[in-house]
Amino acid sequence: MICETAMGVDIDLTHMAEYRLAILEMGQIIVHIIQRPWFYSGILQLLYFLTPTCYRGLLTSRFLRKYSSNIIKRRQDTFKVDSTGIDKSGYKKRRRFAMLDMLLYAKNTDNSIDDHGIREEVNTFIFEGHDTVSSCLGFTLMLLACNKDVQDKVMEEIKYSIPNKTDKITFDILNNMKYLERVIKESLRLYPSVPMFGRRTSETVTTYSGYTIPQGTEVMIRVFDMHRDPKIYPDPEKFDPDRFLPERTKERHPFAYLPFKFDPDRFLPERTKERHPFAYLPFSAGPRNCIGQKFALLELKTVITSILRNYELLPVDTPKTITLIVDLILHTRDGIRLKLVPRI
Ligand code: HEM
Repeated sequence: MICETAMGVDIDLTHMAEYRLAILEMGQIIVHIIQRPWFYSGILQLLYFLTPTCYRGLLTSRFLRKYSSNIIKRRQDTFKVDSTGIDKSGYKKRRRFAMLDMLLYAKNTDNSIDDHGIREEVNTFIFEGHDTVSSCLGFTLMLLACNKDVQDKVMEEIKYSIPNKTDKITFDILNNMKYLERVIKESLRLYPSVPMFGRRTSETVTTYSGYTIPQGTEVMIRVFDMHRDPKIYPDPEKFDPDRFLPERTKERHPFAYLPFKFDPDRFLPERTKERHPFAYLPFSAGPRNCIGQKFALLELKTVITSILRNYELLPVDTPKTITLIVDLILHTRDGIRLKLVPRI
């Protein structure tokens, strides 16, 4: 999906399997390095270049570079811009362009991006745009299989929104499926595809709990743990999509939480119930948040709706039987098994 929509290139899924394995390998290598800070500087940094991990990393990144270069080349071959800057091979004919088209257009017309820059963007989009969604899809299907009442409610919404089996799933229909949206949000609370991410502080920060973090410090934001904090989410292990009902997710502007602001009303009973806007961060926050979150939601709704229209989900694995592993993206050690029973 991500290659076809963002790159305008249809991908042979057999090659995609190789790419997925390489991405998994790369994720594990990066986590391996993050966990060994002694390799970051000094003589040990040189020793790192002699390790098998470093060698594996070089081979894998070469494979990944070749893969994305190939995608760019395939699109470039069909995307030719003449001197007026208008593409003759479809730029005018098509109503919308893939993201890669725009990058190629920028490169070909005013050189505002070079090949290296394009490859970086393509890598980011393919990486951020596939494993995150498949991780969330796997966990959401497991949660639906384990919670029959929730699955039935989603099915009711599907039947109401798409009454005939032959009806097409449209953008508007998906946008109006609010219960399914709450299910996906709750699934991303329990199993955030990106379980933690890093930031470097641009200024000295005092946290709400009173710690001082100096400027220039690398900090990890542990979304997984925050999403299971009972102070923010009572009974945190419980899968409860209604946590995301509009009346239960009333948010205040983050500045309203500033500790030095004199505001006695902050202790009003109805206000103490409000959830801090940054207490739910599956897509991160701030200027570098996820650019693809709306697209991801549409993809997830499309796939889940298509599966549920045809199959009932029964549990095999449950939240108690799966083993989560440390990776850049949240994965399980042995996959997630469930049963699909055709709907008559
Ligand atoms: C459930 C699905 C997804 C989740 C949970 C997710 C999560 C995230 C998170 C947490 C970040 C920020 C990391 C950080 O702050 O360091 C991020 C960045 C990003 N995501 Fe997603 N993502 C998802 C799907 C997608 C999709 C489908 C696309 C592409 C269409 C996409 C494109 C990107 C890009 C390009 C960035 C980098 C933005 C930047 O650095 O400025 N993501 N994503």
